[in-house]
Amino acid sequence: MNHAVWSGRRVFLTGHTGFKGSWMVAYLKRLGAEVTGYSLAPLTDPSLFIEANIQPLLANHHLADVEDLATLKKAMQESRPEIVFHMAAQPLVRESYVKPIETFRTNVLGTANVLESVRAVDTVRAVVNVTTDKVYENPEHAKPFLEDEKLGGYDPYSASKACSEIVTAAYRQSFFNAASYREHKVAVASARAGNVIGGGDWSPDRLVPDLLKALLKDEKPLIRNPVAVRPWQHVLEPISGYLNLAEKLFQEGPAFAEPFNFGPDASDMQPVLKVAELILEVWGKGELNVQKSPNGPHEAGALLLDNTKAKKRLHWHPVWNLKTALARTVEWTQHWHQAKGNLMDLMSHQIAQYEKDASNGRG
Ligand SMILES: NC(=O)c1ccc[n+]([C@@H]2O[C@H](COP(=O)([O-])OP(=O)(O)OC[C@H]3O[C@@H](n4cnc5c(N)ncnc54)[C@H](O)[C@@H]3O)[C@@H](O)[C@H]2O)c1
Repeated sequence: MNHAVWSGRRVFLTGHTGFKGSWMVAYLKRLGAEVTGYSLAPLTDPSLFIEANIQPLLANHHLADVEDLATLKKAMQESRPEIVFHMAAQPLVRESYVKPIETFRTNVLGTANVLESVRAVDTVRAVVNVTTDKVYENPEHAKPFLEDEKLGGYDPYSASKACSEIVTAAYRQSFFNAASYREHKVAVASARAGNVIGGGDWSPDRLVPDLLKALLKDEKPLIRNPVAVRPWQHVLEPISGYLNLAEKLFQEGPAFAEPFNFGPDASDMQPVLKVAELILEVWGKGELNVQKSPNGPHEAGALLLDNTKAKKRLHWHPVWNLKTALARTVEWTQHWHQAKGNLMDLMSHQIAQYEKDASNGRG
């Protein structure tokens, strides 16, 4: 990361009370940025935002809804950001089957409201909309998706994120077009990451948090969908990707105003069972309860991301392999569980370690 780009830079981050958002605040603070957060209160209890005491790192902390355009616009006008990251979302597939309308409202209208608010200030130069690997129409052909493949989405969450991509493209073409960049000076991109793991995720129905919750209680974790393959990565991988992309948008403008995948290398796109076995290995003990015939709502069997574009255009590359990512996650969880000390110190240490490994080219 180029510290000169970030030092003193005004950044507006939605979803700052969430899992990824809290790591993002910690990273931005380390880079010297002045962060305004805009989001609902943490959705889980415990939450990383509270446990790691993220709030004092913020210049401004708004607890508000992205569906509320007037409040969002006002917050953006007051903080006059130069870089915007949009992460606020209803991010769970299973929850989207229970609350489809709320999921579409937050994820689609919320994205339009963020981009509309960007239009209301003249300071923004770069916007990164965080979507997901699930935005692609998935014929389960077991080939990694490229950025120009067809958007789709079987379940409401995936479809809402594909819609968020379409909204982003429409705003880019209609209001932040490359041809008129000199007038508006805004470059807008989207970032599609894989299944993220790391310390401090308590969301329900996510494999690694569910496994860790069970192991902490000495229970046998239930493995719902053992053969499903996902692009697993540590949370610092996509975050470094989002920061890297924002730097390029900020410095070079519309040349980077496109979608980018931030997935792991092929060796880390592994089935659920393999991830669960690796966690037990890192944890040091435990047994699994593998469900033989899953009967929950539909979830994709295979979902793979091609990261070639981010490697070539942004010189971004995955740093920690799956086992290292799981080891860092277990380290964080045990540290938290045993109340070993300041969690922010541990997060800063993990970020520093990640940067060191990145500069050594470790994959
Ligand atoms: N965690 C993953 O594996 C993963 C993978 C790919 C993409 N993503 C995307 O990354 C982003 C962050 O995900 P996360 O895992 O940190 O989720 P999270 O549930 O931990 O955080 C979601 C955040 O959004 C906020 N939020 C929800 N509804 C809101 C609303 N109506 N108005 C304002 N704020 C609202 C929450 O308060 C919270 O701060 C999401 O856009 C998600 O779709 C996550």
